[in-house]
Amino acid sequence: MIKIVTVIGARPQIIKAAAISRAIKNHFPDQIQEIIVHTGQHYDANMSQVFIDELGIPQPDYNLNVGSSGHAKQTSEMIVGIETILLENKPNYLVLYGDTNSTLAGAVAASKIHVPIVHIEAGLRSFNKSMPEEINRIMCDHTSTLLFSPTATGLNNLINEGFRLTNKLPYSADNPGIFHCGDIMYDNSLYFKSISDNRSTIIKDNKLEKDNFILSTIHRDNNTDDPVRLNAIFGSLVEIASQENISVVIPLHPRTSKILESNLDAELLKSIKSNPKIKLIPPVSFLDMIALESNCKLVMTDSGGVQKEAYYFNKPCIILRSETEWVEIVEQGAAIIANADKEKIMQSYKKLKSKTGITFPKLFGNGKAAEFICETILNNP
Ligand code: UD1
Ligand code: UDP
Repeated sequence: MIKIVTVIGARPQIIKAAAISRAIKNHFPDQIQEIIVHTGQHYDANMSQVFIDELGIPQPDYNLNVGSSGHAKQTSEMIVGIETILLENKPNYLVLYGDTNSTLAGAVAASKIHVPIVHIEAGLRSFNKSMPEEINRIMCDHTSTLLFSPTATGLNNLINEGFRLTNKLPYSADNPGIFHCGDIMYDNSLYFKSISDNRSTIIKDNKLEKDNFILSTIHRDNNTDDPVRLNAIFGSLVEIASQENISVVIPLHPRTSKILESNLDAELLKSIKSNPKIKLIPPVSFLDMIALESNCKLVMTDSGGVQKEAYYFNKPCIILRSETEWVEIVEQGAAIIANADKEKIMQSYKKLKSKTGITFPKLFGNGKAAEFICETILNNP
C-alpha cells in the first residue's frame, strides 16, 4: 500500500482533488491510501465545504484552519502544519495541485524533510513573476519528483527549464520524472456534466435564457486591488449588458465582493446594482458552475480554471488578464486576451459574439489523467 498525503486549500484545488480521490476509490482502493490535509486557505462554506459534499471528496483528515492573511503569515503557518503532519504520517508522497499558497507551503515543507512531491498541473507558466501564482508554481515544480503537465506547452516549459524526458526510474527530486498526461479538470468536467444536468437548477432559478447570457468571474488580485482595472472590467460588463440587452451572471469571489464598494466608482456601482441584467450572485457550487458554463453564450473571466472549462463546454472566452498559461485556447481562436482594457474587451465581445466556426479540438487529454497519475505513482513507489 502506497500512502499519499494530499494538500488542498483553495477552491480550485478542492475541485481538482475530486478527480484523484475518485480514481483511487474506483481503481486503486487496495493500493493507494490517501490522507487529505485542508489548509483552510478557503473556508466559507461556498468556497470549500460545498465541493467536499457535492463532489464525493473524502472529508479532510486534517484542517489547519489558517484562514486569510498576508502571503508570509498564511504560507508559513501552513508550512508548520504540513511538516508536522508529514512527520507523523510518513507518506510515500505529498500530492500538490496548481499554484496557490497552499501548494507552495506543501512544497517547502515536504522538500526539506525529503518527502517526494507529486505536482499536478506542473509546467504552466505565465512568464509574469508579479503573479504570486507564478512564483508558487516554479518553486513547486523545482522541488518535485513526479511532475504531471496538463498540456504539451507545460511539458515544453519544463524542458526549457532543464527538466529531462530521458530521466529513468527511480525518480527523485534530483532525477524528476516529467509527464504530459492531460488535465484532471477535463476528467472532472466530463464526469460531472451529466450529474450537473440532472441536479442543477441554477439556470431556472436565475431565470436565464439558454445560450443567451454571459458568465463572468473576477478574482485575480491585480484586477480586484487596482481600481482602474476593476472599473474598466465592470464598466465593460455594464456596457455590454445594456448595449446588447443580455444578462451577465457574476458569481462573485469573496475577495471581489469585499472590495467592490471601496474600489468601484460610486456611479458605476450604482448602475451595477440597479441594472436587472447584471446578476451578482454568491459563489456557486461546481455542479451549478458547470450548468452556467455549458449553457451560457460566452465567458468573461480572469480565472485559470474557468477559461479552460469554457473551452471544454465549447464556449468562447474573453480573458481578463494580460496573458494566460492556457495558450492553446487562444491559439485555437476560442479565446481572446483582452486584459482589463475596456476598448479591447468591447472589441473582443463584438468579435466573438458573431464568430462562427470556432472549433474546440480535444487538447487536454482523454478524461483519464487521474488514472494515469495514480498508475505512475504506483510504478515509482
Ligand atoms: C487564491 C490563490 C489564487 C487562486 C484563488 C482561487 C494564492 C496566492 N492565490 O486567491 O491563485 O486563483 O485562490 O479562488 O494562493 N476570502 C473569504 N473567504 C474565503 C476565502 C477568501 O472571504 O473562504 C477572502 C478574504 O478576504 C481573503 C481574500 O478572499 O483575504 C483572498 O483569499 P486568498 O486565499 O488569500 O486569495 P485568493 O484571492 O482567493
Ligand atoms: N468555480 C465554482 N464556483 C464559482 C466559481 C468557480 O465552482 O462560483 C469553479 C470553476 O468551475 C473552476 C474553479 O472553481 O473549476 C476555478 O477556481 P477559481 O476561479 O477560484 O481559481 P483559478 O482557477 O483561477 O485558480
